[in-house]
Amino acid sequence: MAQVVPAAGVAPARWKGKCQAPVRCNNKLVGLVSLMGGNDTTDAVGHGTHTAGTAAGHFVDGVSAFGLGRGTAAGIAPGAHLAMYKVCDGEGCFESDILAGMDAAVKDGVDVLSLSLGGPSIPLDKDLIAIGAFGVMSKGVLMVCAGGNSGPTPSTLSNEAPWILTVGAGSVDRSYRATVRLGDGEAFDGESLTQDKRFSAKAYPLYYPQGTSYCDYFDGVNITGKVVVCDTETPLPPLNSIQAVQAAGGAGVVFINEADFGYTIVVEKYYNLPMSQVTATDGAKIMGYARVGSTAAAHTATILFNSSIVHVKPAPIVAAFSSRGPNAASPGVLKPDIMAPGLNILAAWPSMVPIGGTESYSYNVASGTSMAAPHVTGIVALVKKAHPEWSPSAVKSAIMTTSSTADNAGHPIMDEEHRKASFYSIGAGHVDAAKVVDPGLVYDLDVGDYSAYICGLLGEPAMKTITGNSSLTCAAVGSIPEAQLNYPAILVPLSEKPFKAKRTVTNVGPAMSTYTAHLDVPGWLKVKVEPEALEFTSAMEKKTFTVTVSSRGGDADAGQLAEGSLRWVSEDHVVRSPIIADARVVPT
Ligand SMILES: *[C@@H]1O[C@H](CO)[C@@H](O)[C@H](O)[C@H]1NC(C)=O
Ligand SMILES: *[C@@H]1O[C@H](CO)[C@@H](O)[C@H](O)[C@H]1NC(C)=O
Ligand SMILES: *[C@@H]1O[C@H](CO)[C@@H](O)[C@H](O)[C@H]1NC(C)=O
Ligand SMILES: *[C@@H]1O[C@H](CO)[C@@H](O)[C@H](O)[C@H]1NC(C)=O
Repeated sequence: MAQVVPAAGVAPARWKGKCQAPVRCNNKLVGLVSLMGGNDTTDAVGHGTHTAGTAAGHFVDGVSAFGLGRGTAAGIAPGAHLAMYKVCDGEGCFESDILAGMDAAVKDGVDVLSLSLGGPSIPLDKDLIAIGAFGVMSKGVLMVCAGGNSGPTPSTLSNEAPWILTVGAGSVDRSYRATVRLGDGEAFDGESLTQDKRFSAKAYPLYYPQGTSYCDYFDGVNITGKVVVCDTETPLPPLNSIQAVQAAGGAGVVFINEADFGYTIVVEKYYNLPMSQVTATDGAKIMGYARVGSTAAAHTATILFNSSIVHVKPAPIVAAFSSRGPNAASPGVLKPDIMAPGLNILAAWPSMVPIGGTESYSYNVASGTSMAAPHVTGIVALVKKAHPEWSPSAVKSAIMTTSSTADNAGHPIMDEEHRKASFYSIGAGHVDAAKVVDPGLVYDLDVGDYSAYICGLLGEPAMKTITGNSSLTCAAVGSIPEAQLNYPAILVPLSEKPFKAKRTVTNVGPAMSTYTAHLDVPGWLKVKVEPEALEFTSAMEKKTFTVTVSSRGGDADAGQLAEGSLRWVSEDHVVRSPIIADARVVPT
């Protein structure tokens, strides 16, 4: 594949960006600016390098994470040019710098903006990133943002405005496999970035105190040469615990996940202490074994390291930390919009930022919706290359309606507890890069549509604030309820009283095409689509339809939330929108 994607050539003539540190720039990195005052464009954290590499890194052979997962690395859009705007450092970010970066990028002529940052939910007219993003959208640029890492608690999203593309995080089909085998022969598949194959050959005495084991100090206990079980109640093994085990002469660590994290295992590189991180469920069994009987000395364990294995099923699974809807700022608009790989992602790293203590590497494994967003950004770049004239909302629609709700085992995508995942955690579904450039139909939106939506949600002063145009009035732009925004997802109140949502699709596929409506909804939900067929005779033709939703009264299965899909199906396209009927959404 390396041969068919040329290295980025010189930047196109319309590019107006510059490099504050010219020696760092080339045909790949065509813009590099710090908005933080001064000339320091260094990435002293690593986050910006990792996310940029994921979006647009070119092919690099012989890459690995500490010797694991060796192969050729590439970003999603390896032929794309890249411009980086430094708006944060290790201390955090100022909103003024973020906005200055967004302005500069749009003025320079970027095709897509990627922001792996965000704060807690606030009303859209008080949310400076949402307000800035409106300006970005009105200039024809789609802004892709991380949805936040505050899951699995509901309503924890960042970046909730409908003109932003908000990304949730899921797992990939790779596991850094480190299997814990106990003396009784039972084995539990964990994961680890600190692997030592020589370790696997022998059984070690297992150390686990009879209460809990925070692994912060080992006064009066000799753990030399033992495998220590730690059940610290944090999502990631605390660095100081791992350090304490190493300092006390422990041979290895079995780290037990926080229960809330379910099947999500977030790996990080820690010193060179052999370790395995296991789920809370597996951890409970390991602790049970360690506690049995009084002759603790008889309990042994080893860790079988198996590098990195691929084609792991099922994948993707929603990452526990990925923030969830409902959308607090606008409950009638689905967020997140889409899910993308964000758990244990291998990407570029600045070698002067040490990993796991003091060591220096050019690649690292990192997790977060920060890692998911740039996957989607790279895909937006590919769509913009194929369809430069598409609006930000058309690109977003293409990404949502072509996404997948099935995992690689052919079942509905699951959440971190292995339950069927809600659209409030996956958005429309998992992004499918192979399909986005040819969606068939798009749900388009322009500045006027979004202005009418803001009038309906927040009123005229908010609309003036967000659009930045004080001569616009709600009387002129109109005012629509959230459910009537022409969004690629349909989110309506759940009640016995029928609720009607109107949508308009634009034909970006073959001029002559006929689409028929297919519904996949639970039996206790009544859904009607009118008309049931859409016949197009020209490119860019628009057709309007309505979806009427109500719950069947008196059904014992009825709950607070119903989820299904509307698929518009033609000979060669499937255009899928999630349908969510939620009793918490107030009809307007
Ligand atoms: C940044 O670098 C330029 C060129 O070397 C120099 O003229 C300018 O004074 C520097 N600015 C700051 C704030 O250091
Ligand atoms: C701790 O245990 C190791 C291995 O069994 C042994 O070699 C060492 O002498 C012990 N240290 C102390 C202070 O007892
Ligand atoms: C390592 O993984 C491979 C492929 O999944 C499997 O066949 C093999 O048994 C594993 N080895 C160990 C030691 O777990
Ligand atoms: C503001 O809105 C008015 C009325 O629709 C329009 O004529 C004008 O061009 C807008 N200004 C900007 C800067 O978009």
